[in-house]
Amino acid sequence: MAQEPYISLRKVEVSYNDYVAGLRGVSLNVEKGEFVFLCGQTGSGKSTIIRLLSSQIKPTKGEVILNNRPLSQVTPEEIPELRRQIGIVPQDFGLLPNKKVWENVGYAMRAIGRTKAEVRDQVPTILERVNILQRADAYPSELSGGEQQRVAIARALINNPPLLLADEPTGNLDPAHSDEIINILLELNAQGTTIVVATHDVNQVERAGKRVIMMNAGLIDEEIDAAGTRHEPEFVPEQVKTQEIPRNPLNVSNAEPLSQPVVLPTETASEPPHA
Ligand SMILES: Nc1ncnc2c1ncn2[C@@H]1O[C@H](COP(=O)(O)OP(=O)(O)O)[C@@H](O)[C@H]1O
Ligand SMILES: [Mg+2]
Repeated sequence: MAQEPYISLRKVEVSYNDYVAGLRGVSLNVEKGEFVFLCGQTGSGKSTIIRLLSSQIKPTKGEVILNNRPLSQVTPEEIPELRRQIGIVPQDFGLLPNKKVWENVGYAMRAIGRTKAEVRDQVPTILERVNILQRADAYPSELSGGEQQRVAIARALINNPPLLLADEPTGNLDPAHSDEIINILLELNAQGTTIVVATHDVNQVERAGKRVIMMNAGLIDEEIDAAGTRHEPEFVPEQVKTQEIPRNPLNVSNAEPLSQPVVLPTETASEPPHA
């Protein structure tokens, strides 16, 4: 039997509610050791893929398979164990402000049951991997955004996970610090970690020269392989092919974020809401 891909999304649809589709039919395979960018405008479905891979949500239709495990079959009790195999880098660093760099990493290790001796032993190595060991005794407020994000990556590495997921890891950084973060992710990938990065930063993506999945309105628009060759998506839902659903029904790229609650006008409203 052929080797299964490490990550496989099969005709995945995610509906957040009756009106909002996160994904409208996405098939995607990622091999072990690959570095993949999910690229596209706000609302195109990048974070939805990251949330599926980290078992924060399940597909409405289709299947997600990670390391031979169909995620639909994972029970809530199994999720912590599954997550230990995945490092997650947040956009907003999420460091504890009153703890030093090494304590931020050590605290995360203690939280998953590591001993003080293990913390002493392993934290320097982890900080070294993201090139921040020289700032081990600094507080987060004393660090640049790029340095803070390196600490966040260090914290994602405490289980030496085979898979690292990063959702807009450079979203809060200037171009120079963004380069630095992408370089660290490329280095971790060169050491064998499979990496999936969601970003809307096309410049970063072009510079890195890795595989790119271009997302648009919950669908894969096209793929660009690491050699720069463009490919059609491997799966396009029938309804999209026959134009029953437009590819970009809400013109999502120009739309306001949909996270604001919709306030319906009432006939009796007599005062402006913020008077
Ligand atoms: N929790 C949620 N509830 C309702 N709609 C959501 C939620 N999360 C995302 N969406 C919607 O799903 C679509 C895809 O969102 P998302 O995956 O976050 O896109 P991206 O990360 O590319 O900006 C968007 O239309 C977004 O508004
Ligand atoms: Mg997002």
